[in-house]
Amino acid sequence: MSALIQLPGLPPIPPLGIGTWQWGDKLVWGYGHGYQQSDTQAAYQAALRGGVRLFDTAEVYGFGVSEKLIGQYYQAQQPKPLVVSKMFPYPWRFSRKVLLGALKKSLRRLQMNRLDLYLLHWPWKPVPLEQWAESLAEAFEQGLARAVGVSNLDLAQLERVAKVLTRHRVPLAANQVEYHLLERKPEKTGLLKAMQAEGIVLMAYSPLAMGWLTGKYRLENPPPGRYRAQRYVMHKAQIPQLLQTLSEIAQSLGVAPAQVALRWCIQKGTLPIPGAKNARQAEGNAGALQILLSEEEMARLDSIL
Ligand SMILES: NC(=O)c1ccc[n+]([C@@H]2O[C@H](COP(=O)([O-])OP(=O)(O)OC[C@H]3O[C@@H](n4cnc5c(N)ncnc54)[C@H](OP(=O)(O)O)[C@@H]3O)[C@@H](O)[C@H]2O)c1
Repeated sequence: MSALIQLPGLPPIPPLGIGTWQWGDKLVWGYGHGYQQSDTQAAYQAALRGGVRLFDTAEVYGFGVSEKLIGQYYQAQQPKPLVVSKMFPYPWRFSRKVLLGALKKSLRRLQMNRLDLYLLHWPWKPVPLEQWAESLAEAFEQGLARAVGVSNLDLAQLERVAKVLTRHRVPLAANQVEYHLLERKPEKTGLLKAMQAEGIVLMAYSPLAMGWLTGKYRLENPPPGRYRAQRYVMHKAQIPQLLQTLSEIAQSLGVAPAQVALRWCIQKGTLPIPGAKNARQAEGNAGALQILLSEEEMARLDSIL
């Protein structure tokens, strides 16, 4: 039902990916408690069955575990999805060559010769963005990544990276940022509009607000762990109304609130990458590809924040 989305330089795919920060991460997500490796394998298979063709990982997720698991499942199964990974700019990573080294290590964990999309995870100092952009261009030119991009960049930062990549004639494929019904900054700042004008894909991370938009949490029953529980506390006045509206729309369509929240991201022209701990979550999220929100439903959701 969904129109395909095109990351520059890559084949078009359905407009929903899957995030795998959870696969191996104990600190925020509690890997090993309530879900384990076999669940991630089942999630991988369920996502593919549901039509998902992009897996998002990073070298830091589970300190390499997420990449290793994807590598195993990828080798064993058809069809082959697009795989995205990211380099973390640790403060001790100074040299330009570090990015290529990190990318090669990711490729070893993933058992691949090249990545589909490689991103700079954060624009943190001390290394200037221009230097990382040069390294991304090098990764592309050496054939280690079919496409390159960034994550967590504002518009001004994005323009700095685009300038360097343009000099190399390397397309800037994506900027992965937090975007969902409780995080509207990319709309307010004009980032989303500017990216769409340039054909750069906005990959929407935490599209379920780390679980808040699934409908199973409430202010009086927040997600486990201080980080997730406190993350959207600034919107606590709007959360009840948002959850109520999501639930009403979901009920009228006969789907789950998570699917409505993800569909909202899709119809904003972004590529959401919801994290899933198991097959049930992966399958449920893939259902967002099969529904359609009316203009009125979009407007109702839009108006809350
Ligand atoms: N570039 C970056 O800096 C950055 C930052 C953050 C994330 N990311 C990427 O974006 C992905 C998604 O973001 P996220 O993981 O932070 O948050 P998210 O996708 O908003 O939420 C994922 C969590 O929601 C719950 N959930 C997911 N689907 C569900 C369903 N159908 N029904 C019920 N509960 C469900 C699960 O947690 P519980 O079962 O515990 O409730 C799951 O771990 C990550 O995996 C990662 O790949 C990137």
